[in-house]
Amino acid sequence: MKEKINKYIADISNIDIKSIDDYNNFTKTYLSKKGVINELFSSFKLLSPNEKKIVGKDLNILKNLASKKKDNFQFKSKSSNKHTNIDLSLPSSYDPIGSLHPLTIVQRLIIDVFLKVGFNISYGPEIEDDWHNFSALNMPENHPARDMQDTFFINLNPDTLLRTHTSSVQIRYMESNKPPIRIISPGRVYRKEDISARAHCLFHQIEGLYIEEGVSFIDLKQMINYFLQSLFGKKVKTRFRPSFFPFTEPSVEVDIYWGLETETDYKITKGTGWLEIMGCGMIDPNVLKNVNIDSKKYSGFAFGMGIERIAMLIYQIDDLRLFFENDINFLNQFKQKNY
Ligand code: DAH
Repeated sequence: MKEKINKYIADISNIDIKSIDDYNNFTKTYLSKKGVINELFSSFKLLSPNEKKIVGKDLNILKNLASKKKDNFQFKSKSSNKHTNIDLSLPSSYDPIGSLHPLTIVQRLIIDVFLKVGFNISYGPEIEDDWHNFSALNMPENHPARDMQDTFFINLNPDTLLRTHTSSVQIRYMESNKPPIRIISPGRVYRKEDISARAHCLFHQIEGLYIEEGVSFIDLKQMINYFLQSLFGKKVKTRFRPSFFPFTEPSVEVDIYWGLETETDYKITKGTGWLEIMGCGMIDPNVLKNVNIDSKKYSGFAFGMGIERIAMLIYQIDDLRLFFENDINFLNQFKQKNY
């Protein structure tokens, strides 16, 4: 190995980089990922400590020599014409510091699908009142469905709470807008859950609402299938399971078949390969009545999904807590995915 290194040192010393082609050839041969020097370093790792001592120094000399040679090459404009198109006063490109959070990336992916078919984004407050979070959604005070929501009340005031779902934004939007309505509402929601690998007291949802004349269950199904195919590819296998939500009738839950290729797949899908992606249904006429929309004239559908679950599946993350710890080593892995 020592001879090899010395030969390369001699070769490089004799190389004269004159053109951009020379420069590209040089960096490709010596300094690229599969270049000579990287390969030497890979073999170096396998040497015994004694052998390392013998060749280590020379290997570093070779590396520094090659880098210097590369850095010494001065790029010149091809023509000597003074009126070149290159504006040297422009700032150079730079590697931006930081990256988007994986939940932001997935949220944007989901939103983009709906923006393409005419939905608008509408936000609502995280601190809500009973009416918007429960009553207007057909969950009156003693409705059993309220039991499913472990609510954080603020200052023990039963009328001020942290919203338990983004469905509250449906009500806010319908109160101040008339159909046709097509919105999606992303945001944080809160539930009094013990924090574990599968549950958190804070998570993110995206809500959807579509109201117009003559909307039927077929429209809902078509929209959901379009969404899932856009996000997971045309071949995605889906199933609609009958379910119950007080604000939709009929209600369904939608699962996708993800498969069981990795341990994470097992954990997230509880060993079935199927993952519940969202709840949805046709808006209950009582909800429309609560916001003064004529349920004889208009009908519509709504859907709601959790963002964390989808992100866990896409990125193979098996512990929900990672999303909230802001560990830089975790976040850095998403650096290349800033779309
Ligand atoms: N709000 C429900 C939840 O948090 C999810 C949901 C189900 C939203 C059905 C909807 C819907 O809009 O139609 O579990």
